[in-house]
Amino acid sequence: MKKYLIISLLLSAMTAMAACTPSDPDTGDGQTATPGRPGDIENPDTTGRPDQPSQSKTLVAYFSAQEHTQAVAGRIAEILGTDIFRIQPAEPYAENPYDDSDRIQDEAYNGLRPAVASLPEPTAIAAYDTLFVGSPIWWHQPAMVVCTFLENYDLSGKIVIPFFTYGSTEYLQHSIDKVHDLTPSSIHLRTYTGGSVDSWLRAIHILQ
Ligand SMILES: Cc1cc2nc3c(=O)[nH]c(=O)nc-3n(C[C@H](O)[C@H](O)[C@H](O)COP(=O)(O)O)c2cc1C
Repeated sequence: MKKYLIISLLLSAMTAMAACTPSDPDTGDGQTATPGRPGDIENPDTTGRPDQPSQSKTLVAYFSAQEHTQAVAGRIAEILGTDIFRIQPAEPYAENPYDDSDRIQDEAYNGLRPAVASLPEPTAIAAYDTLFVGSPIWWHQPAMVVCTFLENYDLSGKIVIPFFTYGSTEYLQHSIDKVHDLTPSSIHLRTYTGGSVDSWLRAIHILQ
């Protein structure tokens, strides 16, 4: 019975995904951003690791297994011309993360902290004053590897802006709260809820 419920939940999440996931961010010019492959995002500052911070004071850090969150992250970085860092788990997930559902559920339900591959030095993160943090919602929460990332740094006084992609909005606020709880001394701005990334960035006064 429990197994049936879990399968149902995942199936309904997958079904709802097409309707609810802000996975194809509106580029603001009537076009839809196409998710790229890892490392494909083109930006002078997007070398993958922010170990050598540029002039930019904003970092977009994200985890993505199926490229939806990457599409939003890439669009934010493209609009703002910021650095971008893809959070990678030290132990990769299956190519189809649904094949790793048991592991992901265990991590989420037990608050585990999977290790991050190639964590940037704290001094590199300290150079940024604004941090966008992106994740899929996995088992009602941000991916735990994103929590590992956040807990490695002192983000006090920095602007932290969580954003998510998801199958349904049911656990969106819960996921936002989780990031806020992990960064209690940060300044939090409103999250992305779909549509034009450009308009959202203007609404939260990150973009003039
Ligand atoms: C194992 C697993 C669990 C998931 N759990 C949820 C969930 O609890 N709530 C939800 O809305 N979506 C859930 N999803 C759907 C993802 O959040 C959604 O597909 C997301 O856009 C994937 O982002 P990505 O392409 O960047 O990996 C789950 C997906 C997987 C693979």
